[in-house]
Formats: sequence, C-alpha cells, structure tokens
Amino acid sequence: MTAGKIMSMKNREKIVMLTCYDSLTAKILDELRIDIILVGDSAGTAFAGYKSTLPMTMDEMIYHASAVRRGAPDSFIIGDMPFLSYGTSIEEGVRNAGRFLKESHADAVKLEGGKAFAGVISAMTEVGIPVMGHIGLKPQSIRRFGHKIAGKTAEQTSELVSDALSITQAGVFSFVIEGTTEEAAREVTEKVKVPTIGIGAGRYTDGQVLVITDLLGVDKDMNFKHNKKYADLYGIIKAAVSSYSGEVKSGLFPAEDQVFHRE
Ligand code: KIV
Repeated sequence: MTAGKIMSMKNREKIVMLTCYDSLTAKILDELRIDIILVGDSAGTAFAGYKSTLPMTMDEMIYHASAVRRGAPDSFIIGDMPFLSYGTSIEEGVRNAGRFLKESHADAVKLEGGKAFAGVISAMTEVGIPVMGHIGLKPQSIRRFGHKIAGKTAEQTSELVSDALSITQAGVFSFVIEGTTEEAAREVTEKVKVPTIGIGAGRYTDGQVLVITDLLGVDKDMNFKHNKKYADLYGIIKAAVSSYSGEVKSGLFPAEDQVFHRE
C-alpha cells in the first residue's frame, strides 16, 4: 500500500482505517490486510489513561509507531502528529514529521487543521513526507472549540469545504473528517479529489476509521454515538481474569498440564 494507491481508491473501493498502538494488535491487522493503520494520538485516551489527546509527546508517539511497525511490517502505517509538534513553526513540524519516518518507519503522518496549516503541509510534502489531513472536530482543539459537531449550518459547511480544498491544494493525499453532519461530509467528499476518511461523519465518505478499543468494546464506560462495538472485550477480559483468579485461589491452576517434571 502506498499513498498513491490510497488516492486511487476514491470512487472505486471503500477505505478501511483503524487505530493501533501496540505490536500484537498490529500483527492481527497486518494479517487482515487492513488498508491503513493509524497510530493515533488517541493513544492518550485509549492506551495511556489521559482525559484527552493533548499530553501525548513525539517520543511517546514514536514509541507506539515503532511497536506497531514491528507487528505490522507490511502495512501502510500513519503516525499522528501530537499537539504542539507542528503548530509552533513549519521547521519544527517538518523535523517532527521526518522523525516518524526515520525513527519508527511509519509511511506517512497525519495532522489536524484546516487552511491555517496549508503551509506546514506543503513544506512536509515538498521534502517527501506523505501527509493525511484532519478536519471537522479536532480533538487537539477541544480546549478552544469543545466537542461540537461541525457542518450543522450552510455557513459551517462552506467553512469545511474551504478547509478541505485548501489542505488538498497543499498536498494531502487524503484526510480524516471527524464529527460532522452526514450532509456536510458528503458535500466535502464530492468536492475534493482525494479520499475522505470519516469518523462520526456518516455514510458517504470514501472510507471509515474507528479507534480500535472502541470497536472492540474494551471500556464499558466509552459509549459513543458514532461507534459500533463489534465485540465485548471488557466482558471477555473480565471473565477470563476472574476465572484465573478463582483457580489460583482454589488451587486449580496450575494443573498437571501446566507443570514440568524431573526426567
Ligand atoms: O487519534 C486518532 O485516533 C484519530 C482518529 C480518531 C481519526 O485522529
């Protein structure tokens, strides 16, 4: 998979993207040939236990992306630029994006932002770094804008379209559109040449992304309207750990099958 191949999937085949933060899960996604693995800064909430994505650092993101690369040697992996790793200056942004490719062997980077980030996007692409954009609800800007759904009015929708056209012009090969009305995401998708990947943006984007721990139902308290729980890992883990605990207490584990004997 390459950025070019992802671009060519627009209007031909839906694109499947999933987040991942560790090598063992990555190995499964690699076997399934998932189109894109995103090492999202959602690692902050889905892995590290923070309340938002804001505390994640470049070093932590590179640690996660390296682990994912080791588990998924053949997959197309995108490293998510964390808060303040690209918003302070173009030079710092390009260097940090380059670190993802050099140190974790990710294939591309993703960054949040509309027209204000066109400069840093084009500087990254000029040095050969494929960039995925991210517009609509931007979790790194929650302190400023909250968790508001975008594209509710015609004015907000034309703002989204103008951001989409601007980052496309700057060189993104694709972009995430998060937390928007279905109508707005559809209009944006129809107006741009690159594939759109939706999360909480309805049915008409070129692809979909979910946070893997949401899809697997790892946290019983995370219940988002945009998500579908395809498994109840919370229940499975709890039952397994509780059986193990019970068997250790009662002396049933380890049993004959699990012990080694002298010759
Ligand atoms: O950090 C992340 O996982 C993301 C996706 C939700 C698109 O940005």
